[in-house]
Amino acid sequence: MSKFRLGVLISGRGSNLQSLIDACADSDFPAEIACVISNKPHAPGLDRAKSAKIETVSIPHKSYDSREAFETDLTDALESRQVDLVCNAGFMRLLTAGFVDHWFNRQINIHPSLLPAFKGLHVHEQVLEAGARISGCTIHYVRAEMDDGPIIAQAAVPVLPDDTADSLAARVLTAEHTLYPKVVKGIAEGTITINGDDVTFRDAAEGFSAPMISPLR
Ligand code: GRF
Repeated sequence: MSKFRLGVLISGRGSNLQSLIDACADSDFPAEIACVISNKPHAPGLDRAKSAKIETVSIPHKSYDSREAFETDLTDALESRQVDLVCNAGFMRLLTAGFVDHWFNRQINIHPSLLPAFKGLHVHEQVLEAGARISGCTIHYVRAEMDDGPIIAQAAVPVLPDDTADSLAARVLTAEHTLYPKVVKGIAEGTITINGDDVTFRDAAEGFSAPMISPLR
């Protein structure tokens, strides 16, 4: 049976990409990575993809006069590889409404907070500054507003008294690496669906039936 095809968008380190690469290495996983695309030609994540023999594409946004021109090439690259789902994984470009509409309910993003709290950059600093006791990560469908869109799943982690932004980021990242493949699996096998803005879960064999996983298993 043909697998669900992912296009992973990155800008940097690519540890979430790695979690998807590792999940896809299991022959029973229902998705495969069709290509990894970076807007930064030297993103370390591209080397992770190359090591796994996955096709990489660099589309340097700085070479374009407009966001629209950049996104036209992005969509062409994704469509020519017959991508079913665009997975933003540390992709640091704002996307226009045109691109978001084109990939409506076919593009997801991971954000290192419990949305709708703490959008934007310097998330862990924001969390510590606010004195929050719980943080986590969120995977959501992409909408035109940054870090906005129907929430698919979240995982919570504690904020500990002596946390720094780095120690909290590391704890959240561990949760991200567990959650992203679970969500991709659910979408690929059809146990997670979206209609308009309504995300629905159908019981899956491994019990991933609720939109919130906490504590992580
Ligand atoms: C992650 O924390 C992700 O939630 C955020 O950017 C970071 C990317 O890390 N959107 P990596 O490149 O996947 O290691």
